[in-house]
Amino acid sequence: MQRFVIAFAAVLAFALGLPALAQAPIVIKFSHVVSPDAPKGKASLYFKELAEKYTNGRVQVEVYPNSSLYKDKEELEALQLGSVQLLAPSISKFSPLGVKEFDIFDLPFLMSDDSHARQMMASPMMDELNKKLEAKGVSPLAYWDNGAIVYTANRALIWPEDFRGLKMRIQGGKVYDAVTRELGALPQILPFSAVYQALQTGVVDGEDNVPSNILTQKFYEVQKHLTVSYHSRLTYALITNKTFWASLPPDVREGLDRAVKESTEFFNATAAKDNADALEKIKASGKTEVHYLSDAERKAWIAKLMPVHTEMQARFGKEFVERIYKASGFTPPQS
Ligand code: LMR
Repeated sequence: MQRFVIAFAAVLAFALGLPALAQAPIVIKFSHVVSPDAPKGKASLYFKELAEKYTNGRVQVEVYPNSSLYKDKEELEALQLGSVQLLAPSISKFSPLGVKEFDIFDLPFLMSDDSHARQMMASPMMDELNKKLEAKGVSPLAYWDNGAIVYTANRALIWPEDFRGLKMRIQGGKVYDAVTRELGALPQILPFSAVYQALQTGVVDGEDNVPSNILTQKFYEVQKHLTVSYHSRLTYALITNKTFWASLPPDVREGLDRAVKESTEFFNATAAKDNADALEKIKASGKTEVHYLSDAERKAWIAKLMPVHTEMQARFGKEFVERIYKASGFTPPQS
């Protein structure tokens, strides 16, 4: 009798358990560092909606905004370890992965124009760079373009000399570091989650970012000046763990690929609008004075910062820098 009960229980468990197991959703943890109201926050939620829809619920996406799961550096390590499956970090933060080539996109004015950025991201050179990430166990699924960036500080930054002696928060990377030093300021790498407090307490005097981050993180409440310098750009890579992605059933991956494509289109359209709106809201707040550079001021910035391009030829190789210029359609501006 006892044997019968055990056998019956085993059959029952198998009968009940196996379908339950087969139906267990594949969980994708999507961690990011910005507000749910920022373009990346909105696009991550849109991706969740599409991914769950296109896989008929076989995938469940958990979105963790505002560094609530991991901060900048930790999230990259967590992705490589497989503790998180999806991230969309700024490509300026890739050097800790051992992929220094992405720093090149921080060269001043290289990617200021939307057209250069689009041309670069669509160029075959990106395949070469993507392979570098793949070699680190990271698969890039898409690039999300958050547009050109502006500087904020408690001092009006009109001429390059205005940076002298300021402590500036940077995202990371050798080019970012060189740009800040060339301006006569002191670069300090801080995770995005620490920036508000660092600005508020004077640990740093300024930073650079897209207007939507400056608005949604309330940096403008603790920064008296903003300069529309558009000296560089904030680009995200939507990345996943290579082994995880390869392990997905083909039909699930197909649904996710569709969700990636549509949320990328959504991101690019949202970012352009949100950044323009954010700048207007910051102006309207009356807390931060917004400065636009005159032609003469912009020329002075270019003259000051173009030597960083020459300096960085030693890091990346002259040929690589020139190939990037060609791929993006960039011509070094004349001051
Ligand atoms: C920053 O660290 O300033 C940004 O890269 C944050 C983000 O992801 O938009």
